[in-house]
Formats: sequence, C-alpha cells, structure tokens
Amino acid sequence: APAQTLAGLRLLLTAGPTREALDPVRYISNHSSGKMGFALARAAAELGAEVTLVSGPVTLTTPPGVTRVDVESAEQMHAAVMERVRQHDIFIGCAAVADYRPAQISAQKIKKTADNDEMVLQLVKNPDIIAAVGALANKPFTVGFAAETVDVEQYALDKLHRKRLDMIAANDVSRAGQGFNADDNALTVYWQGDRRELPLSDKLSLARHLLDLVADRYRSSRAP
Ligand code: PMT
Repeated sequence: APAQTLAGLRLLLTAGPTREALDPVRYISNHSSGKMGFALARAAAELGAEVTLVSGPVTLTTPPGVTRVDVESAEQMHAAVMERVRQHDIFIGCAAVADYRPAQISAQKIKKTADNDEMVLQLVKNPDIIAAVGALANKPFTVGFAAETVDVEQYALDKLHRKRLDMIAANDVSRAGQGFNADDNALTVYWQGDRRELPLSDKLSLARHLLDLVADRYRSSRAP
C-alpha cells in the first residue's frame, strides 16, 4: 500500500461533464468522460483520504471506498458541493462544468418548424462552483483545473488568482491523445510562486503525482 499521505483528511472532488437541458430529450454538454476525476478519487482513497466524488453523467464505476453523489446539471453540482464542502479539508474541481445553460427549459420537445431555417438559443451563466468555494471563509485547500486550447499558462494563472485557488492544474486540451476523454494526460501545476510539470502519462499515475503535490502544499499551508 502507498504511504498514507492523506490519512485523516476529507476530500471532496467533482468529475465529469454537466448536462444542461434544452427540453425533455436534448441537452448541451462537453466531451469530459470523468476519467481524470475518477482517477483522482481512486488515488486519493489509496492515500488514505475519506473521498466524496460529485459526478456528472459518466459511464465509469465508482472506485473502492469512494462515496459517490450523482448529478446532471451545473446547478445541481453547485448545490451538491455547497451542501458538503464545509465538512472537507480539500476540494478538487476536475469537472468540466458548463459555463452557460439554456435560459429556458422547454416542457415539451422543441419542434422543427417548416418556416424557420435558423434557431437561436438564449443562454444564461451558470454558477461558478469553484469560485464559490474559493470565496468561503475557512475554505478548504482548493485545487482547480484549467482546460485551455491557447495561452495555457496565462489563462491558468488568471483562474488561480481570480477564483482564489490554492493550486491549479492546467491541461492543453488542443493536443491529440490527452485531455478530454483520452486515457492519458499531461499537466502543468501552478501555485503561489512555483510550478511543476507533470509529463504525459496515464491518468492514474498523473493523479498520484498531482496528489503528492496537493498533500505537500496542504501541509505547508496548514503549518503554524
Ligand atoms: O473527464 P476527462 O475526459 O478525463 O477529461 C479531463 C478534463 C480535461 C475534463 C480535466 O482534466 C479538466 O481540465 N477539467 C476542468 C475542465 C474545465 O471545465 O476547465 P475550465 O478551465 O473551464 O474551468 C476552470 C475551473 O473552474 C475548473 O476547476 C472547473 O471545474 C471550474 N468551474 C468552471 C465553470 C463553472 N461554472 N464552475 C466551476 O467550478
């Protein structure tokens, strides 16, 4: 068994996509499979943490020893996190939360019309879950992800500061074979005054390396 570097710590994690309903049969979503977040949940449980995983709709099995809460939309994920986060020492936001949702959910299936070749969808902003966690008094040690296709470092550092995170793991999701839905990933992890490159590897190995950094930074942030 690996060294129990997270023993006695309660860790809350989000994973997967969210689904934003348009009508009873349609939704807006993204390509997140949940693999990265589930790998983190598995690795954290192996390191001795008490893990709660708030998951969007995915087809993965729950890792051993992990408590799972299933949600669909960003609003549901927000509520599930805010209900539980004050009982946790560490929060990791790995979910690909939809930034916007349809302004209205049609009660009936939206019909195709003969006279209209165009359709306009109005979207409204979803709550930013990790920013809400970052704004709490006595917030947990808060770790975000940044999924970017250009200017990865600049956007990641902007999110680290703006969302008041303790750490952020940036992935370049424009590269083939890593990021969304892939089995492998590569991360650059940033925190106040330093960074670490975690090179391309399978998501479970990467999760273990990221959690080594989290355990380390958590301890120094809580040291007297
Ligand atoms: O699930 P996989 O297929 O394994 O793919 C993994 C991944 C690419 C989804 C993962 O590694 C990743 O990058 N997750 C974050 C995706 C994302 O939405 O990034 P973002 O840069 O849009 O968001 C920044 C941070 O804010 C994230 O921690 C996100 O969870 C959080 N956020 C974003 C919007 C919102 N409304 N609420 C949030 O909490």
